[in-house]
Formats: sequence, structure tokens, C-alpha cells
Amino acid sequence: MKDINSPKNLYFDVHVFCCINERAAGHPRGSCSLRGSIALQEYMKARAKDLKSNIRLRINKSGCLDRCELGPVMVIYPEGIWYHYDDENDIDEILESHIAKGVLVDRLLIDSKQRTLPPKKSERHRLKVSAVEEFAHDICRYELTSADGADLPLFEPGAHIDLFTGQGLRRSYSLAGDSRDRKKYVLGVRREKPSRGGSDWLIDQLSVGDSVEASSPANNFPVDWSASHHLLIAGGIGITPMMAMGHEMRQRGASFHLYFCAPDEAHAPFLDEIKSIFDDRHTIHFDNGDPTQGIPLTSLLSQQEGNAHVYVCGPPGLVSAVRESSAHWTEGATHWEQFVPALEAVAKKNDAFEIVLSRQNLTLTVGEDETILQAIRKAGVEIESSCEDGLCGCCRVNILGGVPEHRDLVLTDLEKSDNQEIMICISRAKAGETLILDL
Ligand code: FES
Ligand code: FES
Repeated sequence: MKDINSPKNLYFDVHVFCCINERAAGHPRGSCSLRGSIALQEYMKARAKDLKSNIRLRINKSGCLDRCELGPVMVIYPEGIWYHYDDENDIDEILESHIAKGVLVDRLLIDSKQRTLPPKKSERHRLKVSAVEEFAHDICRYELTSADGADLPLFEPGAHIDLFTGQGLRRSYSLAGDSRDRKKYVLGVRREKPSRGGSDWLIDQLSVGDSVEASSPANNFPVDWSASHHLLIAGGIGITPMMAMGHEMRQRGASFHLYFCAPDEAHAPFLDEIKSIFDDRHTIHFDNGDPTQGIPLTSLLSQQEGNAHVYVCGPPGLVSAVRESSAHWTEGATHWEQFVPALEAVAKKNDAFEIVLSRQNLTLTVGEDETILQAIRKAGVEIESSCEDGLCGCCRVNILGGVPEHRDLVLTDLEKSDNQEIMICISRAKAGETLILDL
């Protein structure tokens, strides 16, 4: 063990230099600070203090290290090892593996000639189907466990996972179970009509004992726990995220009520489960296909009681009606998620415009008849997507410059006006605009 007070030990064993260089948004090379390096350098400095190691470590701030397109970047001396990193998990891994144990973090290494980052591959998990239940209207309830019996990744109520089908498709499904139960995921799959193949494969091919690949959970529909009351409104299969919310709201002792609409009792999925999660805090409407017999939204939402928030998930007509009826509620009090695209997004006129892929130093034209995602793939750059309808958030990319035209249903109005992120499967820009993307 070193005597840290000894004069001959007044040096550092390891120096880390983290680029915190700032450049104006829109600079073609981007900069590490635009990708969060200032906060991450501070995080690393704070975490380094708790590191169980006898290494004398100094976390320095540095100016541009001339690896801007790969940033945020850091270099670690005396070995001269370069890393790119994105978030606090990456920093933790560098500290715990490289600094504390001398084991390189391969996935984050930058080699000396590298000019672009390897394509981002999200984590995938192999899950096993442990139960299947069929409901009317081609809806199936699945329970999935991890293939090796280990705990599943944590999720928040409102979150979804993507399932990868045998034909290479990727489809998002809301998690309906109790988020405190780490042993199983519960989800509902409805056969898409017209089918694009994903739900057909899942419903026709997946049986108990089969395995399926899934993404980690992600949440585009989080609960705002600062609300004084939560009003949950669901139509059909849109009940699934509300079930996870109901579980958690019960356990937290929150104030909430569910309004659920289905055609009739025989065609309502998950009824027994809904009753047990929501007991007397739910109202079910069977509209027999007639919207006038559905949830009386105008009267229900005519007044916002205190800091109540409303959450809606279901067909586009229900989502728009709730948004319209609660338009006078305070900003951010209406939350929604829908599983099929809104018609107005499909009908909009498209212009051609330019994009710059900052990390690749590549300028591309996005034609009127293609999406940003298609233009990027055409240029040979690999990028993940799922719904390709602006619904799931899988293709979210940071914007470094330019003004987008948001068409997705993932970002909130506030996030859209911030112009920090874009769903490249559907959102665009106007003619003459150049969007600089953190890719
Ligand atoms: S801005 Fe960080 S390496 Fe240039
Ligand atoms: S792929 Fe789903 S939002 Fe773009």
C-alpha cells in the first residue's frame, strides 16, 4: 500500500484527459461538450473518489483532442488508451474495469486510425415464453422470462420492449406487468391489420417454451409522479401500459382511476387482471362499436382537478379526442402513446433537404420520396429502427444543428420545440435546410 503522504509519492499513477471542448451548435465537427462531456467529466471525477483502488488518479479537463467526430473522447495515460463514451454507465465501466483492474473496455476503445464509431447496437436479451393466453380480436397475452432464469432488466411503468421476429422484423410492445417483479415480463400482442408481418409471426409462431430475442426496456410514456391524481384512459390493447402503471400506483399509494373502453365484454382483453389491479378504481365502457357510447371525455376532462395528469393509450381517434378535450389543462399534464401512426403525419408534403452525419463527415441529400433513415442506409451507414412510423423512439438521434420538422409521436411538444432530438424514420426538414446529426 502506498503512503500517500510520502513526498516521493506526490504524483499520480494515472492521468485521464476528458475533452470538454465547446463549439457552437451546428458546427460540422460537433464537439464533445455538445454530446454531454462536461457533465460526464464531473461525474467521472466524483465517482473516481469512491473507487476502491490504491491508484493515484487524476481526472483532467482537456480542450479539443482532435477526435471530435468520435466524441466525447478521453485518453488515459501512461498507456495512451483512447475511449469514446456516451453516458454514466460507460464511465463506470472504464473506472471499474480499466482504472481499477487494468482490463480494457473493448467496446469503447478507439484505434489510432479510426474516423467513425462502430454502429450502435442496442443490447439484446434472449427470453423464453413461459405462458400464452388468447383473447378475442386476435390478442394474445405473453409472459416472458429470461432464458437462464436470471433477473430481467428493470423497467419503468409505461415502458416497452422490442421483440425481434424470425423474419428480421422488430416490433415494440408495452410491458403490462408489475415493474417490481424482475422474474417476468407481461405483454399483449394484437395482430396488425393490415399486417406488416411482425405480429403474425409472433402470434402464429411463439408458443410456451420457445425463445425470442428482445431489446432492453425503454420508456417513451413515463408517469409524472409529481401529479396529485392520475387519470388513465385506455382503448383496447392500449390497456397494457396502464396495467403496469396501475401496479406501481397501487404500491406507491398514489391517487388514480382507470377508464377503459372496449367493444363489449366478450371482446375486452385482460378483464380479470384489470379488475384485480384497479379494484374499485376503474370504470369500463363497452361502446358496441359506437363512439358515442364510449368514455364521456368532454365531461371527464372539462376541469383539471389540482395537479391531475391524464394518460391515454389506444387508437388514434381516442388519443386525439383526449388531447383535444384536455387542451386547456396545464402544459405537460397530458401524456399519450399510440400504436398506429396518426393520419396527418402520413399526408404531409415532403421537401428534399440536406443532412450532415457529423461523426462520418458525410453530407447527404434526403429526397422527397425517402426518409432520413433510408438516405443514411443508402449511404452504407448501419442504423437501428423498429416501427419506422415515429411511434417507438428506436431511431432517435441527437441534432447538432439545423431546424427539423418533427412528425413523430414520441417527443413531447416541449421536446419538439427544443430541437435536440429527431426520429429519423419519419421527421424531416424543410427545403433548403441542413440538419447536422450526431451520427
Ligand atoms: S471536441 Fe472533443 S475531441 Fe474535439
Ligand atoms: S423507428 Fe420507431 S420512431 Fe423511428
